[in-house]
Amino acid sequence: MTAFPENFLWGTATAAYQVEGAWNEDGRGPSIWDTFSHTPGLVARGDTGDVACDHYHRLEEDLDLLGALGVGAYRFSISWPRVQPGGQGAVNRPGLDFYQRLVDGLLARDIAPVATLYHWDLPQELEDAGGWPERDTAARFAEYARLMGEALGDRVRTWITLNEPWCSAYLGYASGVHAPARTEPAAALAALHHLNLGHGLAVQALRSTAAKDAQMSVTLNLHHVRGVSDRDADAVRRADALANRAFLGPMLEGAYPRDLIADTAAVTDWSFVRDGDEAAACQPLDVLGVNYYNPTLVRAWDGASARETADGHQDGAASPWIACEDVEFVRQPGPYTEMGWNIDETGLTELLLRLQRDYPDMPTMITENGAAFPDPVSADGLVHDADRVDYLHRHLSAVNEAIAGGADVRGYFVWSLMDNFEWAHGYAKRFGIVRVNRDTMERTWKDSAHWYRDVVAANKLPA
Ligand code: FCB
Repeated sequence: MTAFPENFLWGTATAAYQVEGAWNEDGRGPSIWDTFSHTPGLVARGDTGDVACDHYHRLEEDLDLLGALGVGAYRFSISWPRVQPGGQGAVNRPGLDFYQRLVDGLLARDIAPVATLYHWDLPQELEDAGGWPERDTAARFAEYARLMGEALGDRVRTWITLNEPWCSAYLGYASGVHAPARTEPAAALAALHHLNLGHGLAVQALRSTAAKDAQMSVTLNLHHVRGVSDRDADAVRRADALANRAFLGPMLEGAYPRDLIADTAAVTDWSFVRDGDEAAACQPLDVLGVNYYNPTLVRAWDGASARETADGHQDGAASPWIACEDVEFVRQPGPYTEMGWNIDETGLTELLLRLQRDYPDMPTMITENGAAFPDPVSADGLVHDADRVDYLHRHLSAVNEAIAGGADVRGYFVWSLMDNFEWAHGYAKRFGIVRVNRDTMERTWKDSAHWYRDVVAANKLPA
């Protein structure tokens, strides 16, 4: 089977800090990613998001690009410090205007706006007050959500509260390879909780302000965790608890998994979870956003051999895997993308089928999937990225297989529309189906963009 269901939503995705630039224009305040990228040594080659893809100034051109691709949806994120510079108080009108124009421009082209409220750019003032480990940040986030619901709620079709809170909590506060570069495991678990709580409060705020038929969602980078052998079942359970059930539990079931609390007892007593918090985090959602790049392979560490930590998030840094000292993250067989991530689409099928089994009433949507490759420019001036076409084809086939197996998957968004600022890796890692020339900012379609346009138009994969 190569055709997708009728009404399957095809899109591309970006995030504010990765594409917008204009970091200090029209009243935008600093975010933790400005601070991070301006700190020498934290981002490869000293790259920053100051200019990024200059999307802020090239909005019309990029809207036309989306129109030409023929996608039915566009997933973007709103920069919190652009619309509410210090993370509290009144809306910054010029910043908000940008998103008004974006949303209207999408609708004029018949493209559904899918807005993510938080793709990692916390206003710096809120981090100065303690950041996500502080409970008040969840309340601030809900207030920001309410303001956005009031301003854009009549036109945004799908709201995604958080993007990959796994990264915000564990890479931001435990391993420190992301902003705000803190390495405090106990604070990371408090951050995790306040992200879950903030998500629930934001959904409540959006429900009371946005259009009645707007869909509510959250995007999780769920890990498909496998063990090397049957002896590794407990390592799988621990990683799954931290990576997946730490979010799925409160958000979809209204409770943290008991085993997660027990596993991490030496790090925190979880006293930051107050009565009613788990219920508040658990708001009815319309669709669950899933980001997938590759699976995760673990093994129980024997305590003697050199411990492998190849989880794909900067090997050798402090661990994002709190209280998993006895778990190894094993390097997986290739082929690999430029990120060093192995290519294995079977994990996506298995993950979607697991979600269907565990949460039969919750439709899913792939809110990110894609790959970085070397992308040399050929003599003809074009990028013939057969490797990316192959990656996308494999993963879309995997989605199709999950649908055939009973999974209710509603849509798919390629990461990314265009080459952009890949966080701590800077611009060296190119994920776009459209190339961005860093000197001229010129956008050029790669072969994968032409391929994707055809898939979208046909609503099926080529034979
Ligand atoms: C995800 C992020 C996205 C992008 C891809 C490659 O973790 O959500 O912004 O960087 O990885």
